[in-house]
Amino acid sequence: MSDNKIYDFTAKTFHGLEKILASELKKIGASEIKTGRRAVSFQGNKETMYRANYEIRTALNILQKITYFKANSSEELYNKTKNINWNNYININDTFSIDKTVYSDIHKHSQFAALKTKDAIADFFTENFKKRPSVNIKNPDKKINLHISGNKCTISIDTSGDSLFKRGYRTAKGQAPLNEVLAAGIVMLSDYKDIEYFFDPMCGSGTILIEAARIFMNVPPLYGRKKFGFHKFPDYDYQLWNKVKRNADKKINKDIQIKIIGTDIDPELVKIALKNISEAGLRHHITVHNKDFLNTKFENKNGLIITNPPYDERIKSSDINKLYKETGDTLKKGYKNWSAYIFSGNLNAVKHFGLKPSQKLELYNGKIECRLIKYDIF
Ligand SMILES: C[S@@+](CC[C@H](N)C(=O)[O-])C[C@H]1O[C@@H](n2cnc3c(N)ncnc32)[C@H](O)[C@@H]1O
Repeated sequence: MSDNKIYDFTAKTFHGLEKILASELKKIGASEIKTGRRAVSFQGNKETMYRANYEIRTALNILQKITYFKANSSEELYNKTKNINWNNYININDTFSIDKTVYSDIHKHSQFAALKTKDAIADFFTENFKKRPSVNIKNPDKKINLHISGNKCTISIDTSGDSLFKRGYRTAKGQAPLNEVLAAGIVMLSDYKDIEYFFDPMCGSGTILIEAARIFMNVPPLYGRKKFGFHKFPDYDYQLWNKVKRNADKKINKDIQIKIIGTDIDPELVKIALKNISEAGLRHHITVHNKDFLNTKFENKNGLIITNPPYDERIKSSDINKLYKETGDTLKKGYKNWSAYIFSGNLNAVKHFGLKPSQKLELYNGKIECRLIKYDIF
């Protein structure tokens, strides 16, 4: 595609982060921005697409529209898909896969609709070139996306390849790590202006700390990642990609005043967090200690807590309610003048916090309904 040609894109995200994602897209110069459910559509050129992949913190994938049509049967879906000049998107030696999202009474079996799409692409190549690219579900060169709503079909190509939550720094995981996109979104939804301290007292593998540091320091979210889907596009512009990277990297400023601190009660997780923090190049900017939050205090400072306490169903509810109550008590006693955001999927346990929320937001962690609750501690 030529640099100035305008394309239609869809950025996918978590339910509850659509507005933040739209504002990020506005900042990189995208146009025709429209928020949907777990997605934001926009227009832009190739540079916008490269920037969206590298600089947007709250997108899971950036899909580029190939075509849109109506199909009232699986034959129509097959025929209209085969009519696309797939040569523009997939090389004969590439592998490909089909991702699907189907809400339709006509195309009831989403797996069958995906199969018809796969057959149409394969048959396009066999009929034109007597050879066809093969399917690879785990690690395809090209990811094709099929979206059907009723009889309306949109076929797109995934410009990100691997989902954008794969930032490249997380080599080790705790038991319940927070998705990086969700962690970044939570920090962006918070009020982090003019703080001295940023603290995640139950930091697990360190995701919130790393995403927050990257936001405060203007480090692009995909800073360490080497591979994107668009690198394999036939019109991949290496010079343009380097320019996009250089321009974004120029804005990095690690010389910030905010002190970024984490603690966790589990020494193994402290090790994991430190490993990930090193991997992200932030070893000199984030401090992590092995501590029980319930024995800490940090008064007379201007600080912000964002944390994701355990909400595991495997923990007995009486224990989890007690942990939430004691966490609330610790904040009340030891963190005067701080603000705290608690992100949890245990809607019952948060009721035991014992502090009056000043703000509540509904978010979804995949299928789990969660809350981001703000407490102002006086
Ligand atoms: C849901 S995990 C946090 C996951 C983290 N956000 C991540 O991305 O990896 C909750 C963490 O709280 C820690 N934790 C539980 N009770 C604690 C306490 N009293 N003090 C400090 N950490 C605690 C657990 O060890 C666990 O790592």
